[in-house]
Amino acid sequence: MASPIKRIGILTSGGDCAGLNAVIRAVVHRAIRGYGWEVYGIRRGTDGLAERPVDAVELSFKDVPGYLMLMSGTILGTTSRGDPFEVKMPDGSTLADKIIEGYHMLGLDALIGIGGDGSMAILQKLADRGGWQIVGIPKTIDNDVGLTENAVGFNTAVEVATEALDRLHFTAASHSRVMILEVMGRDAGHIALTAGIAGAADVILIPEIPYSLESIRNKIESRRRLGKNYSQIIVSESVRNAQGDSVTQIDPTGRTRYGGIGHYLAGRIGEMTGAETRVTVLGHVQRGGTPSPLDRVIASAFGVNAVDLIAKERFNRIVTWQRRAVVDIRIADAIASYASVDPNGALVATARGLGVCLGD
Ligand code: F6P
Repeated sequence: MASPIKRIGILTSGGDCAGLNAVIRAVVHRAIRGYGWEVYGIRRGTDGLAERPVDAVELSFKDVPGYLMLMSGTILGTTSRGDPFEVKMPDGSTLADKIIEGYHMLGLDALIGIGGDGSMAILQKLADRGGWQIVGIPKTIDNDVGLTENAVGFNTAVEVATEALDRLHFTAASHSRVMILEVMGRDAGHIALTAGIAGAADVILIPEIPYSLESIRNKIESRRRLGKNYSQIIVSESVRNAQGDSVTQIDPTGRTRYGGIGHYLAGRIGEMTGAETRVTVLGHVQRGGTPSPLDRVIASAFGVNAVDLIAKERFNRIVTWQRRAVVDIRIADAIASYASVDPNGALVATARGLGVCLGD
């Protein structure tokens, strides 16, 4: 029986990361070579579907050259503007209604959404309300999408954070300083924990394990007693102390965001230990740079398999990476099982086994 699919869309949603273009490239190749479908790239995430005319462009092989593998960001653009069901239009409808209509105006038979758990929840809601057929691909440097070992972009972010620790190591030693590296990750500590182990940090602070300043001081002082004149601390942006306090900032739009824990710790650690402290806030550097080979490979596997899922008409599913294979699961199940760091898991045990202070 001939496939009822003739035209698919693809969009990137939420914060960008390295490897998104590799996904787009894989989707275009598989959809055209494997099935002869038309592929429409929607610009700026779901915002493109709300534009009139819909802001989308048909993608062909010439739009996805091999060098896209080297480019971070997304050639389609993205948006992280929150829930369109909450945005009211002057006529009383919502932005979501407009977005839903855009899918049908474009004549799509299915849509591939590349996003983190927040974007996936919104896309699933749009699909349920709007009669869309969707397949998801997980991406986020935070690596907190449930039931996948890797989301696209995580591995590159870890490489960037590890390289930063490597670079800080020798300047820390030369000046007998405590170096603090603040990394992203939102509510999950995967970047800090993984890069911290790889980069031989002395202290790794993650949101899943409340920290105490005394524990950090003890570690710095015990290193001094061993003749080690410097220490390296990697801290996840959303860590909390035993009272549950984190450090946040209000951005110019009035939104509360994480950020500033590095400088807070530097002040307190300086007071408590007398050490000279310096802070590096890595920020959006973690989302850019050349995608790592692993991210390129996972992105390509996800893209090809997502297209195959559409061909099999398996919708409302997301591709995941499990035990070196691509496995598809329900989007709802991935969203329901948020993946934070397991405080009893292998990497925390590894860090403890290496004598790393986890702040507790
Ligand atoms: O979710 C990805 C992420 O980079 C988080 O690690 C970070 O907290 C947040 O996005 C930053 O968002 P923005 O790009 O809006 O500053």
